[in-house]
Amino acid sequence: MTQKKNPTDTEAHWLSIQVQAPPQAWDAIASMLIEAGCTGVQLCDQPPRVVGYLPGEQGAQLPALQERLNTLPQFDLPPVMAVHIQPVSEKDWHALWRRHFRSRRFGTRLRVQPSWSKRKPNPEELLIQLDPGLAFGTGSHPTTALCLELLDTYVRPAMRIADLGTGTGILAIACAKLGASEVVAVDNDPLAVQIAEANAQRNGVGQTVQIVLSDGWEGLHGTFDLIACNIISTFHIQTASRIPEFLRAGGYYLASGIIGRNWREVRQAIEQKADLRLLEVRKRRTWVAGMFQRPSA
Ligand SMILES: C[S@@+](CC[C@H](N)C(=O)[O-])C[C@H]1O[C@@H](n2cnc3c(N)ncnc32)[C@H](O)[C@@H]1O
Repeated sequence: MTQKKNPTDTEAHWLSIQVQAPPQAWDAIASMLIEAGCTGVQLCDQPPRVVGYLPGEQGAQLPALQERLNTLPQFDLPPVMAVHIQPVSEKDWHALWRRHFRSRRFGTRLRVQPSWSKRKPNPEELLIQLDPGLAFGTGSHPTTALCLELLDTYVRPAMRIADLGTGTGILAIACAKLGASEVVAVDNDPLAVQIAEANAQRNGVGQTVQIVLSDGWEGLHGTFDLIACNIISTFHIQTASRIPEFLRAGGYYLASGIIGRNWREVRQAIEQKADLRLLEVRKRRTWVAGMFQRPSA
């Protein structure tokens, strides 16, 4: 790894981590960057690279990240060619994201676009306007896109829904727009909570969506008709046994954030520890999302 400055000098900044590698390795690298704490990841050509943005105070994650990047050949993936790390000011970071976040449709009805876009939605579309700030979740990452598409299929009016790891609030807002009567959205990052709250207000669903600062399942109360969870594989594997506490019989669990090589283990954990049944799997590049159902009593 080459570092332009010592990351400990850049606590007020973000670190841009540029990992040069052939496209076959991009999804695995993106997953490793997210697991290391990057809130945003971009795929770029010329030179082919994955760029992650890590909060400056998490610079201590870098040696562990380098170790994980070194394991790519063990998964029959090409090795990393170079890693460059650079401090980025918050202002530059915002400017970078503004260039990459465009209006996009998901499923049959959901249109997600930046708050600064002037594009008018088509009459049948449900518009979600976001200012992502420093949080994860614009729809440009496959894990979010897969969730939006599955929510478009499974959310029914008047459902009570939980969104674990809400980031920008994108999935929670989508559920409210699709007719949910109540959405409890949890994140353990105080900044994400602030951003999600602002986004819920911006979309006129502040009454329906309750944003909670909490660690995972601890932020939930009562039972839900559907629980969406776009957090890394280890979260699904380690906490699957808690699902039945919060999911009503016949309810749905949407598991996303799973890189292909972890899918079997995540699926097994959810089927065996939570006793759910897999209904549907969707894949985008090497990311996987599964919709599970708790059998009716
Ligand atoms: C991959 S992002 C998903 C954001 C958004 N839901 C989406 O689909 O784009 C994961 C989010 O989960 C949050 N997170 C990670 N671990 C968590 C935990 N244990 N409890 C609550 N939130 C967590 C992160 O702060 C981040 O905002």
